[in-house]
Amino acid sequence: MNIVEVNELTKIYDGRKIVDSISLKIKKGEIFGLLGPNGAGKTTTVSMLSCLIPPTSGDAFIEGKSIVRESMEVKRRIGVVPQEIALYPTLSAKENLIFWGEMYGHLVEENLEKE
Ligand SMILES: Nc1ncnc2c1ncn2[C@@H]1O[C@H](COP(=O)(O)OP(=O)(O)OP(=O)(O)O)[C@@H](O)[C@H]1O
Ligand SMILES: [Mg+2]
Repeated sequence: MNIVEVNELTKIYDGRKIVDSISLKIKKGEIFGLLGPNGAGKTTTVSMLSCLIPPTSGDAFIEGKSIVRESMEVKRRIGVVPQEIALYPTLSAKENLIFWGEMYGHLVEENLEKE
């Protein structure tokens, strides 16, 4: 099964093709590296796959869910670890787990108490 399938994904900013019709398939369990020089469009591609920005054209499917038509379903299935750590320094480790878990609809606190 392809966990990620990208079909002619394109992003245009101010008439400039930032991502030019890329297509690729990633199998479940596969580790995939997206390499390219500065400004190649890597962050723009990952932002489209995470539904942070819409593609100009094309589509991609995460576990068969479309980033264009089913963004909520895609967001429910993915986790993104950016270069900068995205935790709240004013919260404790446990509070961060509870906050981020609940953002995904999990009852973290109840489960932490059980352990
Ligand atoms: N919101 C935007 N508006 C206009 N141009 C943009 C926008 N976001 C990115 N770009 C341009 O798109 C190109 C690709 O940027 P992107 O950040 O995707 O590259 P990258 O491969 O992640 O680069 P790096 O290796 O430096 O992180 C760059 O020329 C950038 O200036
Ligand atoms: Mg980048």
